[in-house]
Amino acid sequence: MCKTITVGNLKGGVGKTTTAVNLAYSFAHLGRRVLVVDADPQSNLTPFFRKGRNKRGIRDALSSPEGAMRCVRRSRYGGIDIISGDTRLREDDVRRPGDLGVALGKCRDGYDFCIIDTRPAFEKITASAVAASDMLLTPVCLDRFCRDNLALVEERLDESRDAWGGCPEWRVFGTKVSGRSPSQRRTYEDLLGRHDYPFLETCIRRSCAFEGALGLYKPVLRHRSGSPAAGDYIDLAMEILGCAHGEEGTHGEI
Ligand SMILES: Nc1ncnc2c1ncn2[C@@H]1O[C@H](COP(=O)(O)OP(=O)(O)OP(=O)(O)O)[C@@H](O)[C@H]1O
Ligand SMILES: [Mg+2]
Repeated sequence: MCKTITVGNLKGGVGKTTTAVNLAYSFAHLGRRVLVVDADPQSNLTPFFRKGRNKRGIRDALSSPEGAMRCVRRSRYGGIDIISGDTRLREDDVRRPGDLGVALGKCRDGYDFCIIDTRPAFEKITASAVAASDMLLTPVCLDRFCRDNLALVEERLDESRDAWGGCPEWRVFGTKVSGRSPSQRRTYEDLLGRHDYPFLETCIRRSCAFEGALGLYKPVLRHRSGSPAAGDYIDLAMEILGCAHGEEGTHGEI
């Protein structure tokens, strides 16, 4: 069975695309077959996996969901295929709530994971991705905005469950984490202890390796295979694989 994960947050620049890229690559590195879907009109995910313009992508998949298989392309990495982004994608391209789910239903056979990158909004495109998913995965920067930001995501997730159906589990993880930041540590402890948000144990450290990898449009494991940051995304993939098998963990320290 393919597990579908939407990477989403209302907040911009928190590392959604970085997560979609590096999680997909980590799953493939661990021997899983992955379909990545670029559902953000910014189309930032696509160049990590394919060069140049693609003839068919997410817009075509939405306009004829039954024929979405025609929009799946090989990526430059073995084990990873892609439905490319399209900078012309508009909210109104999602005509019926279930269209993305129907489209993905035509393509997901044979993959272990489908990972959808989204724009920093919970309107029709993201809501339809969430409705078609088993998990909403939310990266957060552990700063002062984080608690309000998570409260809003939770609210939008509830609204989108009511309006669009689907019942994905919600998981949150800290990213751009600096082990030496007392304020990040306090925020993390507050969010875990007082608010009970569904945090994964894995945090992704703040690392300049991501800027270098972005400059070359590469997953960080490909760019600097020995870097601790690459190891963090492998850990995240392994923890999600554990979730997929129903294992529970206890939260570690950041
Ligand atoms: N762990 C990290 N350490 C340092 N820099 C990071 C980390 N994760 C992401 N970045 C950098 O943060 C910037 C924003 O990341 P990214 O584009 O993935 O965010 P996003 O949430 O997808 O943004 P948008 O909302 O615009 O889609 C990029 O320059 C990226 O390289
Ligand atoms: Mg992005």
